[in-house]
Amino acid sequence: MSNNESNTFLAQQKMSDAVKGDLAEHPEKYVMLSGDRPTGRLHLGHYFGTLKERVMLQDAGIKTNIIIADYQVITDRDTTENISDNVLNMVIDYLACGIDPAKTMIFTHSSVPALNQLMLPFLSLVSESELLRNPTVKAEKEASGHALTGLLLTYPVHQACDILFCKGNIVPVGKDQLPHIEQTRQIARRFNERYANVFPEPVGLLNDSVEIPGLDGRKMSKSYGNAISLASTAEETAKLIKKSQTDSDRNITFDPETRPGVSALLTTAALTTGRSEREIAEEIGDGGSGTLKKYVTESVNAYLEPIRERRRELERDIPYIREVLAEGNKLANDVAETTLNEVREAMGMVY
Ligand code: TRP
Repeated sequence: MSNNESNTFLAQQKMSDAVKGDLAEHPEKYVMLSGDRPTGRLHLGHYFGTLKERVMLQDAGIKTNIIIADYQVITDRDTTENISDNVLNMVIDYLACGIDPAKTMIFTHSSVPALNQLMLPFLSLVSESELLRNPTVKAEKEASGHALTGLLLTYPVHQACDILFCKGNIVPVGKDQLPHIEQTRQIARRFNERYANVFPEPVGLLNDSVEIPGLDGRKMSKSYGNAISLASTAEETAKLIKKSQTDSDRNITFDPETRPGVSALLTTAALTTGRSEREIAEEIGDGGSGTLKKYVTESVNAYLEPIRERRRELERDIPYIREVLAEGNKLANDVAETTLNEVREAMGMVY
């Protein structure tokens, strides 16, 4: 991190802490926007990383909005295969985890034209070099093995549209997303200075929950094959845990550096039981990875069972799932039209 970046990081950390202190007292001041790319099923990493927090914010009386970012799917891949299935399953995952569509607006990019139209004035507010130096864009370009598409290059600006069309002022994020938030703040500030005060400068709410590792100790990700999906069955979960890589030391200890596989399993058990990794490790002692895997499987499956049960119910009522999304999209269009009208007015484009 350069000096400049670490200053920005510290400033953002401070803002995040200040907002966290104020949320419970003044929920009415806050509008949350958060979202996911519909590239597959949501997994335990999403659950502990953000879904739980979204439900908590929703239940605290904060205005909550969730975007299913379908246009982001084509930032770095050239197919929209399975997209509608992925989108419907994402809605199912949300509802199964406790998102209440009466309180939270759930919607898709491609259904809200006025949101997407904000991209034009916003693109005029950023420079080529700002776009090129975004570290997440660079990393995603490399991971994809594709040429840098115009959409991947400009997707942080598109995220600014997602956040600002509904005047979102808090965005739950991991550290790696902070450059996006900074870009959004800049866009809001520049628009307000150039035209008229229309947009808030959103704050990234830094996630302080433990990041749940994938079964191999790397980041949990579907593309690594190390993720436990909310949608998978108890048997699939058992299989995945069984074939996860551990080591031959029978004495179970928690040491993420030297024993990533064993430690990832311990963290998974810890998060799903509320116990500590060390306590679980001591209890298993010389039981070896077989005993550990059995314990993890039981803990994860017990934890997920109520969510999976609700999932199965929702899966049987796809017309209801479609209705939830249609309602969310309708509402998002109203919100986006109102904001776009303010933007037209601020820019003198009312004819
Ligand atoms: N990029 C996020 C992801 O990969 C999804 C997303 C789209 C988002 N628009 C957003 C997140 C705006 C926060 C704010 O899951």
